[in-house]
This record gives sequence, C-alpha cells and structure tokens, in this order.
Amino acid sequence: MSSLSLKEPKTYSLPSTADHASDLTQRKTSKFRRLIVFAGLTYFVLALTRHWSPVSELLGSKSVQNVKPDQHLCPQVNVLVPVVNRGLWESLGDVYRTEEFRLRAIGWLSGAVNVPTESYDGMDPVGVDPRWETFGKLHEYLDTAFPLVHSKLVLTKHNTYGLLYEWKGSDSSLKPLLLMAHQDVVPVDHNTVDQWTHPPYSGYYDGERLWGRGSNDDKSGLIGSLSAIETLLETGFQPKRTVLLSYGFDEEASGCEGAQTLAKDLLEKLGENSIALIVDEGVGFSEQYGTVFALPGVAEKGYLDTRIEVATTGGHSSVPPNHTSIGILSKFLVEIESHPHKAKLSRDDIFYSTLQCYAGHAKSLPSDLRKAIQHSVKSDKALRKLQRIAFQDLETLRLVSTTQAIDMIQGGVKSNALPEQAWAIVNHRISTLSSVEDAQAHDTELLKSLAKSFNLTFTAFGQHITDPAKPSKGRLTLSDAFGTSLQPAPKTPTSGDNALPYEILSGTIKATYNNHRQIEGDNIAVSPGMSTGNTDTRYYWKLTDHIFRYNHKDMKGGLLASNIHTVNENIEVDAFLEGITFFTTLILNTDESTSI
Ligand SMILES: *[C@@H]1O[C@H](CO)[C@@H](O)[C@H](O)[C@H]1NC(C)=O
Ligand SMILES: *[C@@H]1O[C@H](CO)[C@@H](O)[C@H](O)[C@H]1NC(C)=O
Ligand SMILES: [Zn+2]
Repeated sequence: MSSLSLKEPKTYSLPSTADHASDLTQRKTSKFRRLIVFAGLTYFVLALTRHWSPVSELLGSKSVQNVKPDQHLCPQVNVLVPVVNRGLWESLGDVYRTEEFRLRAIGWLSGAVNVPTESYDGMDPVGVDPRWETFGKLHEYLDTAFPLVHSKLVLTKHNTYGLLYEWKGSDSSLKPLLLMAHQDVVPVDHNTVDQWTHPPYSGYYDGERLWGRGSNDDKSGLIGSLSAIETLLETGFQPKRTVLLSYGFDEEASGCEGAQTLAKDLLEKLGENSIALIVDEGVGFSEQYGTVFALPGVAEKGYLDTRIEVATTGGHSSVPPNHTSIGILSKFLVEIESHPHKAKLSRDDIFYSTLQCYAGHAKSLPSDLRKAIQHSVKSDKALRKLQRIAFQDLETLRLVSTTQAIDMIQGGVKSNALPEQAWAIVNHRISTLSSVEDAQAHDTELLKSLAKSFNLTFTAFGQHITDPAKPSKGRLTLSDAFGTSLQPAPKTPTSGDNALPYEILSGTIKATYNNHRQIEGDNIAVSPGMSTGNTDTRYYWKLTDHIFRYNHKDMKGGLLASNIHTVNENIEVDAFLEGITFFTTLILNTDESTSI
C-alpha cells in the first residue's frame, strides 16, 4: 500500500500494575452482573436484527448462542466455515500445513519477487516509457507458475499490463467476488543496496522468512490469491459465484495507468453495484490489549495537494521591495503551519468504532480507558475526555484529522535577480468526515487577510477571491497541484441491514485464524479499521459499497518488522501460508452465501 499506519495506541496513560489488578477484580464483579442482564438482552436483540439471519442461516443456530453478552458495543459474528464444502476446506487446510506445500508456496512467491516490477512517480504512459516492460516478464512467470489458473480462467489485459482474470461461476445471478492486489513494488534506492541482508530481488528464504522488495507489499497478496485458486482448481472445485482477480501495476505511483483502467473497463462491462465485495491490500491483525484484533479497512482518507503560487514583479536585486515573492510565500507557509486543521473525535469516525471494539473485546484494556469509551456512547463530556486521551497519541490524531504537510518548494532563478515566482505544495490527507472542498476552503480562508495585506490579486481553485481587474502588487494563486484530489472513500457498511459482506468477511477471518492454528472457538475479534494511506480501490467505488482493505497477516512486531517500503522487506512464510488459507476460505464462504 502507499503508506499506512497500524493503530497501536500503547501510549495511552496506563494505570500502575497495582491499580490495574484491582480494576480487573472490580471489572469481573460488574462484568458478571452485566452478563446476566445482557444474556437475555443479546438473544432478544439478535432475534430482532434481520441482518444477522443470513449468517445464522449458514451456520445453523450456533451464532446466536455464541455471541458474548458484553459485546454489544461491537457485535461479533460467529466463526464462519463452509458447509457444503466443509470437507474440501478442511482437507485444503491439511494440505497447506504440509512441508511440501510450504516449499511450493515459497517457490511461487520467490519467483515473483525475482522480477523487479518497480513503478516510479511521473512515468510516461505505457508504450512510451520502457520501464513498464518489466511487467511482461512477471506475466511470463505467472503463466508458467500457475498453469491451471491460466487454462481455466479467462485472462484479459487492460492497458497492456493490467491483469483481469475471470473464474466464471455456474450461477450468473450471483454478484462476483473481486480480489485485488498490485503487481508493482516501490523502487529500491540504489544507495541502499548494500544495506540489504539478502539482495533485494533474491526472494531468499532463510528457513522462516522470505526476503525481498515486494515479498510483503504486495506480491504476497498477488501470489497468495493465485496460489489459493491454483490449489482449488487442482481439487476440481468449480465456483457457483464468479471470482474476479484484478491486479494493477502502478499502485505505488497512484494507479493511473493500472487500476484506473481496470476499474473503468470493469464498470463498463458490469455496471454500477455489480460486485458483491472487494478485498484489496490493507492492515492485518495483531494483539491489542490482550486480544487479537483484525482491522479490515472500511474507509480511506481523501487527498489534496494544494499548490500555493506567488507572483510579483521582478527586477534587479540591488533595489528590492520589502518582500520578494519568496518572502511572501514564506509568510503564507508560516500561516499554514500555525493553523493546523482542527481535530475532533466524532462518533462517526472509523477510529471511534475501533475504540468501541477495544472496549467490547480487549481483555486487558486499562479500565479508565474502557470506561471513557463506554460512557462516550451517550455522554458528550465523556467523548471529549476520550478525545483527550486518544489524541495524546500523535498517530491517532493524524488518523482522525485532516493533515497538512508542506512537501515541496521552489522559487527564484538567480542570486542577483528578484524572483518573479515562488511556489510550494501542501499535501493534505482529508478526514473521512470532511471533503476536498472543506480542505480547499480552509486554505483559502487562512490566506485571505495576508493576501490583502500584501496587496495581491487572489485566485483560489478557479474562483476569484479578489477583483481581478483591480490593480495590485502581484498574484496569489491556489490550485490542485497535479489534479489528483480525491474525496474520502465512502464508508463500507459494518452494521445494519447492508452489512452482510462485512459479517461474512469477519466470520471468514475467524475461521481462517482457527484453521491455521488448528484451534476452536472465538479467538480473534474483528473491528472496523482504517489506515492513513490510499489503495487502488480508490477507482472501484462505483462497483460496490463493500470494499475491504485487508491482508490476513499476523503483524506481530508491527509494520516495522516486515520493513515495507524500505531496506530488508520480508514476510514470514507462516503468515503468507495463512493468507492463502484466508483467500481459500473467503472464496468458499462467499460461494455458499446466496444473500450477497
Ligand atoms: C517598507 O519598510 C519600510 C521600513 O523598513 C517602511 O517604512 C515602508 O513603509 C515599507 N513599505 C511598504 C510598501 O510596506
Ligand atoms: C495595490 O497596488 C496597486 C498597484 O501598485 C496600487 O495601485 C493600489 O493602490 C494598491 N492598493 C492598496 C490597497 O494598497
Ligand atoms: Zn501495497
């Protein structure tokens, strides 16, 4: 993914161990009381809630009994295993745990890592820029590595290197499942090659981990999904529901050539709302406060690069005005940094839902935090208190609010000439509760009075803020720097009538987790999540309401352990194998649901 941030709010003020222990005892007592009250209530609520029934249908009556009573803050579905294909699913789990399959999976992934499919910012289009040609090599590899996929699925290429596979289901009335991944990787900085423990495109396996650029982001998703399908094809499985695979090739450079074309072609062919659900790369699962949480991304922040350009009359540097274009621009930039976007925790924030899930399921959440979360549901005062605690963590603050970062600047051509022009670019990541227009208005309002004091004609995002006919000392122009602004993504439903895909995904995550570890019961909680970056899914909104950014991958040690986007990127092979189990389980589970 482009960039992301895993929420590990370990920086909240934790009570001392002694406090914590007594809190735990207290909690047990009150928990017991709540248990009695909610045992009846939960059953009642579940019986009334229509959207649970299709999952219960698949599972028999078990799902209702197994929902824990204090989980009303963040209801969980039961483990969801295939019913019709249960035998197949279990035997594939056995296959995936063999040494033979492990070696096969290592070979599959390693071969893909060997092809350096780097994408760069500002590349010329396909057919013009020769650097795209490396993707042809990857396609040759995929063709030989996955023979059944290439003989049984229909492959079409979009803008030469965009791959769209169609595994046609027998029931055309069912909306397809769409799995996404990207073929490209972040370039390896030539200056860092000698810092890699194993050469960056070696795909070296050290007995535990597989090393190399792309091993994790995102060839594990690309090869993981293809591996699951190749193996399913070997068993003779034929889906009822069509499975589509859409693999872009410039996600790391914003997806204009790859995902944009693929999504456009899919939309033309299938129409709006024609897909049951989409799963693309995203954050995985990790332990938070004593409980393992999976955090499928259900939204994405928006994006805006504001270009601030100042133009004034040039001239000889020996008779300067009080302020040059560069000096004036600097004042504007100071103004911007002095006025960050206001951050406010709202009950509509995705992060607020994540907090609810922590309160509902995290075994060792500090009790003051748990209380603040619980009370905040009804009390605005408690919500503000929760905000104060949560925003102590800078990453959390950045996740929730609209951010700004001055990332580029240029001006002047010569040391003895007054600069006629100077510009800077402010990068914004827009809160899911805000919009591109809000961010533009914020920048515009902020610079109005300064622009006036410098006597500049002001134009912002195509609008005249001052009268362009009036004489002035120069111009201030704000614009969308590269025309790449993006609204925050629509929020994928995670509760209510339209949340069945989320529930199927949740049950699938739980089943995968258990299958991989050969354990039973409810061992992983699923919570709505969000990362700070964008994925290729930005082009797919019209195809479905149900987009999930999720890699079923153990993130123990956090993101840093796998070195995504930097030196020594790697993946634990065990995690990669679990990912294959996830794709297999998702395909089989969605194949059996008739309600999505
Ligand atoms: C420039 O600065 C001088 C003082 O250094 C001040 O007297 C003058 O008014 C300024 N000129 C303008 C146009 O602001
Ligand atoms: C702004 O600059 C123009 C051009 O020098 C001048 O005619 C005008 O009076 C100035 N306006 C103000 C408010 O200083
Ligand atoms: Zn990625």
